[in-house]
Amino acid sequence: MSTVYLNGAWVPKSEAKISVDDRGFLFADGVYEVTPFYEGVPFHMDRHLDRLRSGLDWMRIDYDVDELAGVSRQLLAMNALESAETSIVYIQITRGAAPRSHPFPKEPVPPTVYAFAKAWSRPSQEEWDRGFEAVTVPDRRWARVDVKTIALLPNVLAYQAAVDAGVADALQVRDGVALEGAHNNFFGVFDGEVVTHPITNVILPGITRGVVLELARENGLAVRERPIHVEELADADELFFTGTTSEVRPTVRVDGRPVGDGRPGTITRALSRGLLRRIERAKEAAREVTR
Ligand SMILES: Cc1ncc(COP(=O)(O)O)c(C=O)c1O
Repeated sequence: MSTVYLNGAWVPKSEAKISVDDRGFLFADGVYEVTPFYEGVPFHMDRHLDRLRSGLDWMRIDYDVDELAGVSRQLLAMNALESAETSIVYIQITRGAAPRSHPFPKEPVPPTVYAFAKAWSRPSQEEWDRGFEAVTVPDRRWARVDVKTIALLPNVLAYQAAVDAGVADALQVRDGVALEGAHNNFFGVFDGEVVTHPITNVILPGITRGVVLELARENGLAVRERPIHVEELADADELFFTGTTSEVRPTVRVDGRPVGDGRPGTITRALSRGLLRRIERAKEAAREVTR
């Protein structure tokens, strides 16, 4: 039985209760964050908490995220996940509970703060080497997907379309542009240039996306942040998704058509290795501090 964090208390998950008046339940009026841990060591937690802070500011929810670094570590410890190779902490903050009415509660109510930790598994090396498939789906999301709100119905339907098609990823397309996945960002390699959509209101500013762009630049690769049009997918040498639990995931077929030579490409492999090296370095640095 896992232990979760709810409004300052540590409780068995089966005993965690929220009000039916919670605005997250009634209106999806909340934000969330997913922070990766590797053998108990957080990876770029500061960037995840910064994104959460800006989402809360934009939604005008008054909550100080500073306690969440400690809460996350404690959750890992309480759930015996400190030695798990790969785990995440999920954090959700809603505007709190108040009788249903669209505007913010007249009398301020405390936000609802919920967090849990869980392990996840990477695909095997053989699976990764075979690569993954994606299907294109229409992007039916709203105009501020850069804010990580809990209103994820279009993402849920997009991901289900991938599951129904028996593939790993859904590539969301709007106005002819392949924007991002249901829970990950999207990259292409065209004539040696690493391309991904710029940070605007139509994609989530992924933390992994940012790290992968840093790695590409450090490796001297040409990088361009520009829209990728669906017609260009046929000409891509390589395609891949990035995300907290996707890491760098090679896409070898889109809508049944092979990408490049149908295998994970050399740049995708180099960026994946670079990400794993950076994770190892974070683990080593954490060990140095505790020594
Ligand atoms: C729509 C969407 N895009 C991209 C990402 C990747 O972001 P990150 O790398 O911070 O996990 C996510 C992660 O949940 C997402 O939901």
